[in-house]
Amino acid sequence: MKNLTIAIDGHASTGKSSIAKELAVKYGYIYINSGSMYRAVTLFAIENNLLKLTKTNINLFIDKLKEISINFKFNDNSLISEIYLNSRNIENEIGGMHVSKLVSEIAAIPEIRKEMVKIQRTIDRGKGVVMDGRDIGSVVFPDADLKLFLTASDSVRAKRRFEEMVKNGLEVSYEDILYNIKNRDLLDSTRSDSPLIIEKDAVVIDNSHMSINDQIDKISKLIKDKFSN
Ligand code: DC
Repeated sequence: MKNLTIAIDGHASTGKSSIAKELAVKYGYIYINSGSMYRAVTLFAIENNLLKLTKTNINLFIDKLKEISINFKFNDNSLISEIYLNSRNIENEIGGMHVSKLVSEIAAIPEIRKEMVKIQRTIDRGKGVVMDGRDIGSVVFPDADLKLFLTASDSVRAKRRFEEMVKNGLEVSYEDILYNIKNRDLLDSTRSDSPLIIEKDAVVIDNSHMSINDQIDKISKLIKDKFSN
């Protein structure tokens, strides 16, 4: 079987990264979480007091962005490519609510999207790649071999996220998370540049009542039926 490009898009907190990671491990592909790049830019803006600049002088902000580096390095223990802002591992930090609350606004800015897409397209796809996000099948890799769109009910998503954050020792409220998830979906699907859409050739998976294993089984079957000869 040839090495595939798999695009996973979908609503917020639908477990896209867990599925992408499992698929990458199973097939020996590279996994890139594109959302973490928008989160890295958001963290950079917060830490350097540049949030206002993203609204008042986006060109200056982009100049500053070009001075920093956003890289991925594979971690042999977690089996994912973790994100680095300059030489700092920010994989855990970017999951916090302070970033989640602002990231959709940052990700809606066309100039920022342009820079991120440019980086995403430099990935060597020869070894096979799984990338998750909101515009992977529509903008980043419209020629992807397999396009998946994940969704689930609002309450199921909020409950999963809440439990995950509590497990990680974070103080959060379920209501806050539910509001944030709905708000991000709204902003992501209604922005003018690269909104979240379901591509015609995407396979939609509602995982409200599916385990990760159920989903991997379903996707593996899709891959086998479509690509093994
Ligand atoms: O996948 P995530 O929740 O970590 O993504 C964070 C935000 O970044 C999300 O609100 C939408 C945005 N995003 C995007 O616009 N395009 C992508 N390819 C990935 C994420």
